[in-house]
Amino acid sequence: MTVGKFDILVLPNVFSPKYFTDSLWFAERLPAIVKSASFLEIGTGTGIAALYCAAAGATVTATDINQRAVTNTIRNARKASLPISVRHGDMFAPLFSFEKYDYMFWNHPFNSWNGQVPDMLMRAGIDPDYRDLERYMLHGKSHLTGRGAQLLGSSDMAEVDCINEIADRYGRKLTVLSEGEMPIENGSEVWNTYYIYRIDTL
Ligand SMILES: C[S@@+](CC[C@H](N)C(=O)[O-])C[C@H]1O[C@@H](n2cnc3c(N)ncnc32)[C@H](O)[C@@H]1O
Repeated sequence: MTVGKFDILVLPNVFSPKYFTDSLWFAERLPAIVKSASFLEIGTGTGIAALYCAAAGATVTATDINQRAVTNTIRNARKASLPISVRHGDMFAPLFSFEKYDYMFWNHPFNSWNGQVPDMLMRAGIDPDYRDLERYMLHGKSHLTGRGAQLLGSSDMAEVDCINEIADRYGRKLTVLSEGEMPIENGSEVWNTYYIYRIDTL
């Protein structure tokens, strides 16, 4: 399927830009922030944001907890002839402790519903109590060079107060770098606002 300027493959059980508008919205805006710097994408899904950043000259590493997303991104990178290092694992686990990037980004699961989420596709949309988001904010800094920033892709459909409360708890501050309104799904009448936040340590 065509997503923005790429013809991509979407494997079953991978978060799909065919239905959700956030993937392309973030992918089109990240290159202007990241430029030709080094870039880590957590939770890459089909790899659409990684493709956009690599095509704009960034050096890109992409990870996902979902093995199918990893396979999907490897195949999309090959298809686009773009050099993206793709790794499988939970949050920062696929990285060496010394590995650092100028920018990192996560289009995080917007829902914080409590409970078990055994299904990998559901983990794309649900992060129970935002425990993964908390780990992203807490441990991201140790993988940053200091020449760029830690970024978060989010929405007003997410629990914005809760996200700010987590940031406060760990001495982090969120600043909006980019925002815009879109239907939440292609063809939907329900609109939401997307945000790219910069996460700073106070
Ligand atoms: C909202 S989807 C975004 C996918 C893709 N970046 C996009 O914009 O289309 C969230 C992604 O994060 C991944 N994910 C969820 N929890 C994760 C974790 N703890 N570590 C790494 N990836 C995770 C999911 O598998 C999913 O691919």
